[in-house]
Amino acid sequence: MGAWEVLVTRQIPEAGLDLIRKECSVRLWEEDRPIPKEKLLALAAGKDGIVCLLSDPMGGDVIAAAGPKLKVIATMAVGFDNIDLDEATRRGIVVGNTPGVLTEATADLTLALILSLGRRIVEGDRLVRSGRWTGWAPTQLVGADFNGKTLGIVGLGRIGKAVARRAKGFGLNVIYHNRRRLAEPEEAAIPVRFVSLEELVRESDFLSLHCPLNQESYHLIGKEQLEQMKPRAYLINVARGPVVDEAALVEALRKKQIAGAALDVYEQEPKLSPGLAEIANVVLAPHLGSASIETRNRMAVMTAENLLAGLKGGLPPWCVNPQARQKK
Ligand code: GLV
Repeated sequence: MGAWEVLVTRQIPEAGLDLIRKECSVRLWEEDRPIPKEKLLALAAGKDGIVCLLSDPMGGDVIAAAGPKLKVIATMAVGFDNIDLDEATRRGIVVGNTPGVLTEATADLTLALILSLGRRIVEGDRLVRSGRWTGWAPTQLVGADFNGKTLGIVGLGRIGKAVARRAKGFGLNVIYHNRRRLAEPEEAAIPVRFVSLEELVRESDFLSLHCPLNQESYHLIGKEQLEQMKPRAYLINVARGPVVDEAALVEALRKKQIAGAALDVYEQEPKLSPGLAEIANVVLAPHLGSASIETRNRMAVMTAENLLAGLKGGLPPWCVNPQARQKK
């Protein structure tokens, strides 16, 4: 029991919760489902700090409901598109996230999706379980080779680079598009080649998304881009659902404009666009990017460290709006 009143919107790994409990009085939303909006609004009231998840809509209404004591929001995620950052900054509330620590786990998952999609592992699993498998057949569930193919990466930040490094081991050539081009020595060291978004979409055999969600990346891949992709190309999204126009993707898959898709994120998580689950050549993961034991434990500890630093009036060690400190 400590001095600060804190809301934690879901059970997080104990390693983080223990640190918070040592110094704070914690109101934990204990149910094993996301906190409903009305509960979030009610329980935020009067808190000094909030630990939230990427599934919690931390808009201006929640920030206002928390009231003037709120000093810090610590999200247990690297992405913070669910938080109204302008409003938090305006009110002098610092926001912390968990960059870096989930890079390797998310890149591992991306490769797992590329491999299972290209080699049709999930379709094969369904066939074997169904009891309809009649044994090895020369043309059964044949998929894609990786060696010599082109992987296109949208967003060559930490995670994109970690994916590119792994892709090399599978003989994939990597091209990328990013808001800012890397310096040539860094490109050569990975190695990757910078192209326009149009070229990336047209040239990729595997098109993998690793950019943050913002106004520029909303529906970055829509009807037009899907039409430009090769008919034998695959789309992989481990970034944020709204980077892809999901209804347009369903349509493109139905029309066989592309060969398949693997998604870890969805436009209206956890809801799926109508028809998506009925399509055979899609792999659908339940937002597992950072879901390894070590990574989630480390994320929880970073979240606690962000929260405690913010409560003490300092900057969270991983702060996305340090300018907020000038306001309080
Ligand atoms: C996962 O999607 C994260 O942003 O941490």
